[in-house]
Amino acid sequence: MKKYFEDKVAVVTGGASGIGLCLCEEMLALGARAVVAADMNEDKLKAECKRLEAAYPGKVLGVCTDIAKQESVFDLIKQAAEFGVGHVDFLFNNAGRGLPKPFDFTTDEEWKYAFEVNFYGPLNGVRAVLPIMRAQGGGHIVNVSSGVALSPMAFQTMYSAAKAALMAFTSALRSELWDENIRLSSVIPGIVATPMWDKAGGAPDFAITPQESALGILKGVAANQRIIILMEYDLNSAKYGFLPEYGDQMDAHVLDVARQRRSGNFKAV
Ligand SMILES: NC(=O)c1ccc[n+]([C@@H]2O[C@H](COP(=O)([O-])OP(=O)(O)OC[C@H]3O[C@@H](n4cnc5c(N)ncnc54)[C@H](O)[C@@H]3O)[C@@H](O)[C@H]2O)c1
Repeated sequence: MKKYFEDKVAVVTGGASGIGLCLCEEMLALGARAVVAADMNEDKLKAECKRLEAAYPGKVLGVCTDIAKQESVFDLIKQAAEFGVGHVDFLFNNAGRGLPKPFDFTTDEEWKYAFEVNFYGPLNGVRAVLPIMRAQGGGHIVNVSSGVALSPMAFQTMYSAAKAALMAFTSALRSELWDENIRLSSVIPGIVATPMWDKAGGAPDFAITPQESALGILKGVAANQRIIILMEYDLNSAKYGFLPEYGDQMDAHVLDVARQRRSGNFKAV
């Protein structure tokens, strides 16, 4: 695994927190030449980059980025390529937003935003980085989806739809770019104890840590896995989520989650 990341240049969106921050730390520990952390939370980004820069001098750049805005994503990749002296070997499209809400209360504007942040942000990152990867002869793009792409959940219609679209886009493009030595992987990162769960009152007890998730992701990336799935829970959704003969079992599970969420338990998954 070390060999895959050693002396490489990586960009990580959502790099100031949770899984993204751990991806930055672990790649630096594996000997990456440069890591560019992008996040819209400027204060947290500055603080985390200062800490990482102290441990890995000259290897860390923080770029304040709003991935929901195309020009911001293009500017990020431009700055990253300058920092990497023309190279960007990895793009981790990791930033995303859960946006839980009953469907009845969602507006067109919110649907548009859900896709801007969870789908078009990564797509714009791909558009921006492809010319660089082509020029250098290859690269690896990693799009962080969610278990909801395999097992869509009630009260998260916007998030489920956008993350499923992201996974389909990633798999389609993987085969389209394979012969150019540009790799694409989707990630289902598990139920991970990060600030994403704060509004739900914290992550479920069985959540894994962001470091465990990041290490599992990097292992899957180094093995060029098509869809990197880190927890048994999501593996079961992948195995049983689409076959008609398991439809009743899946319905029983997601209905239970829907009812728990309706009664206020947003930790229910
Ligand atoms: N934590 C989980 O259980 C879980 C499960 C499935 C999928 N995911 C996905 O993993 C990814 C990382 O989530 P996390 O759990 O580490 O969450 P997190 O809240 O710890 O980190 C997300 C980071 O993304 C940043 N961000 C949000 N919107 C942004 C934008 N428009 N532009 C730039 N940065 C933005 C936030 O400021 C934050 O620093 C997300 O795509 C999320 O959907 C997480």
